Amino acid sequence: MAVDLLLGLQWGDEGKGKIVDVLTSKYDIIARFQGGPNAGHTLVFNGKKHVLHTIPSGIFHEDAMNVVGNGVVIDPVIFKKELDKLEEQDVNYRKVLLISRKAHLILPTHRLLDAASEASKGKAKIGSTLKGIGPTYMDKTGRNGIRVGDIELADWKKKYRALANKHQAMIDFYDVDIQYDLEDLEKDFFEAIEVLKSLTFIDSEEYVFQAIKSGQSILAEGAQGSLLDIDFGTYPYVTSSNTTAAGACTGLGIAPNKVGEVYGIFKAYTTRVGSGPFPTELFDEDGETMGRVGHEFGATTGRPRRCGWLDLVALKYACQVNGVTQLMMMKGDVLSGFKTLKVCTAYKYKGETIWHLPYNIEEDNISPIYTEFKGWKEDLTKMTDESELPKELNDYIAFLEKELGIPIKIVSVGPDRKQTIFR
Ligand code: IMP
Repeated sequence: MAVDLLLGLQWGDEGKGKIVDVLTSKYDIIARFQGGPNAGHTLVFNGKKHVLHTIPSGIFHEDAMNVVGNGVVIDPVIFKKELDKLEEQDVNYRKVLLISRKAHLILPTHRLLDAASEASKGKAKIGSTLKGIGPTYMDKTGRNGIRVGDIELADWKKKYRALANKHQAMIDFYDVDIQYDLEDLEKDFFEAIEVLKSLTFIDSEEYVFQAIKSGQSILAEGAQGSLLDIDFGTYPYVTSSNTTAAGACTGLGIAPNKVGEVYGIFKAYTTRVGSGPFPTELFDEDGETMGRVGHEFGATTGRPRRCGWLDLVALKYACQVNGVTQLMMMKGDVLSGFKTLKVCTAYKYKGETIWHLPYNIEEDNISPIYTEFKGWKEDLTKMTDESELPKELNDYIAFLEKELGIPIKIVSVGPDRKQTIFR
């Protein structure tokens, strides 16, 4: 059976956690393939909010297996906290949570290095979540990293110490004021390693291969969004992994010809956390309203998200890079009450009109060209059927579908599992 992918098409925070949760009953296995605790996937059901960082969003369904793939980076300390929260909620994760031996570990010194690197950049900082993501992927590609499978080996602590020492020298090199007590950090780290060791480690590419062969259904859950992709995002203001469809192949060991549906998730407007270009960003009351009504605060860092109109040029680009086959539009309810809605359909770039995402999209080079739409007043949050949606919203949806050439199959009208309209 083919593997379906679920990907964010903007700068993250599109609502992937909710949709995975909604779709999980259709799948035997939910697998994460990249990113780490920089992600914050929010799920709301039975009146309760749950935030997952590294654990796949299928964990609340008893029947689904949850795989943390080789492409993910794991911070044992944060992972342990996530497990503790699951235990508090009586979620029996032991039998359904599997971890790839090839996933890399985030060490305490990776987090410190992240902080030192950001501090050294001053105004040019990436706006990283400071979870150690970049330094860990650097050690992975530099062939110095420590993987989950290593902690099963007798002498892994020797390797750990050598790497941590090297990191300390690098932190000193940055010459920034980073205060830390490594002994303290390591105490938590090694405690958490013992908890990690009590879980089931697998050769996940083999597991996934056998699952596909035996006809099991798999959903690969992306983290962050396409515009944060290390290759195709707004570099250098990106994360350090491939957040796009290809990342699911390398992050789980799925052959490209085994990919089935590619679900692309986007918000009816746009948000971004951290630094970097954002052509449709709003600095006025409209942006403030989106942030307030949409509760636009980072699920991992709590930072306010920057808000702006939907950028169709960027969305088209993301659909192209990912081969999206079905779209899901989130947070349409947040736009209720706007008199006029705008969608960016082209850019004015160095004096010319262009319809693609250029290499360099710094603010002084680029400004959005908008198409305007009449807004709707109706509260969407109680609606359960497509037939109830206001005409203006249907017009908005029809325009996007026509421009993108891809059907919008789900319209989400609130954070709860139940606030989901299938089309
Ligand atoms: P890092 O991945 O923590 O290094 O952060 C790099 C950039 O990606 C920063 O701008 C972060 O705000 C952004 N970022 C990382 N993870 C997420 C996410 O899950 N949602 C939204 N933005 C993210």
